[in-house]
Amino acid sequence: RENSTVSITVVGASGDLAKKKIFPALFALYYEDCLPEHFTIFGYARSKMTDTELRNMVSKTLTCRIDKRENCSEKMEQFLGRCFYHSGQYDSEENFAELDKEIKKHEAGRLSNRLFYLSIPPNIFMDVVKCASKSASSANGWTRVIVEKPFGQDSESSAALTRGLKQFLVEDQIFRIDHYLGKELVENLSVLRFSNLVFEPLWSRQYIRNVQLIFSEDFGTEGRGGYFDNYGIIRDIMQNHLLQMLALFAMETPISLDAEDIRNEKVKVLRSMKPLQLEDVVIGQYKSHTKGGFTYPAYTDDKTVPRDSLTPTFAAAVLFIDNARWDGVPFLMKAGKALHTRRTEIRVQFRHVPGNLYRSFGTDLDRATNELVIRVQPDEAIYLKINNKIPGLGMRLDRSNLNLLYAARYSKEIPDAYERLLLDAIEGERRLFIRSDELEAAWALFTPLLKELEEKRIAPELYPYGSRGPVGAHYLAAKHKIRWGDLS
Ligand code: BG6
Repeated sequence: RENSTVSITVVGASGDLAKKKIFPALFALYYEDCLPEHFTIFGYARSKMTDTELRNMVSKTLTCRIDKRENCSEKMEQFLGRCFYHSGQYDSEENFAELDKEIKKHEAGRLSNRLFYLSIPPNIFMDVVKCASKSASSANGWTRVIVEKPFGQDSESSAALTRGLKQFLVEDQIFRIDHYLGKELVENLSVLRFSNLVFEPLWSRQYIRNVQLIFSEDFGTEGRGGYFDNYGIIRDIMQNHLLQMLALFAMETPISLDAEDIRNEKVKVLRSMKPLQLEDVVIGQYKSHTKGGFTYPAYTDDKTVPRDSLTPTFAAAVLFIDNARWDGVPFLMKAGKALHTRRTEIRVQFRHVPGNLYRSFGTDLDRATNELVIRVQPDEAIYLKINNKIPGLGMRLDRSNLNLLYAARYSKEIPDAYERLLLDAIEGERRLFIRSDELEAAWALFTPLLKELEEKRIAPELYPYGSRGPVGAHYLAAKHKIRWGDLS
């Protein structure tokens, strides 16, 4: 609105996330004319910096998708002109009150809305929320706070964090980011399911044999070992990114696209799942590997990681949803660092065609079932493996893909997840943010397992850097008569 203004404060402005993701995403939104007419961005952190130094820092790290476009530098100058820096302690009410004064100067009497992005470690969330909500209470519009995982380490610490935040904020003011929800293909999941007649009727135990959610990265924890060692891959990827994709994949049809309706369905499906047991999981950790004369380091070679760390950098798990739609269908998850490739995808393996007429024409029944692949990244795509006749006078079949490759179909660039999420937070759209009961249900699934792994000091299976991960993952799938789709 013309007489309103949005002040965005990036708390922890000199950190990695702010530099690599938040400022570039804000700039991309500005470039696309998606930010409100009156907005100001404040960087807040402990280090001393002038506005000019912040602007230099931001312009240097502007590696977003916009930087090759026409008049980018002109827009960039305008954008930087709207960025300011305020240095202060994270637990100082006084420093936040000074920031508030600065913000007010820029608001120039307009209706004031405040957005705080907490790009800081969770152990200081509470201090900042306390100080920021106090000073922002003078704002006459909305105040919202974006927080990003880790939301605790287990059910108890997460509940404590939620209780703490709610001393100063109501649930509607808290925007918990899971950046995977901002990815184009993850957002498309419900479009695919609920706007195409050909998928939704097949979306159940009757036709689907298993579902696989796979995350792999071809690099280790380089530089992040200190953080990672306190969390491990299950907390870093599975309990949030993969579980969120699973919930969207498996939920019942929401009564509308309203945020609460969608989140109600996600919570229901999460609550229908059984907490994981030790026998449902395989964990791994990468070891060093020499290839082409170069030695890739082991996880424990990282100086910030204890030499005897048992933290998993890989995990595979099988989950079941105890409801009428999914009873008995294994949902397999696999997440790993330092593997042979970088890819995130959902693979849906369908059941066999009963009494397959073409069994003797080149289809191996076990392998030739239909498979739908939703490739979240890189090279976004949706493809369906079908059996097809090889052209010619004979009758031989092979497996081919019906392929929707985004780069070939759409000329528009895919926005970064943070762009969508920041825009939604500014617009008050909560659909892609995690509600506290969702978070609670997600932790309930993983907490007993994590405790057991840690209490019993279960050793991870070592796998070479750059490999396909521990062989235990194959056995886990084989126990359920499944082959990982990405390996076959
Ligand atoms: C983060 C994890 O949430 O997601 C990282 O903490 C991981 O360990 C990252 O590398 C992956 O995100 P993306 O968008 O690069 O796939």
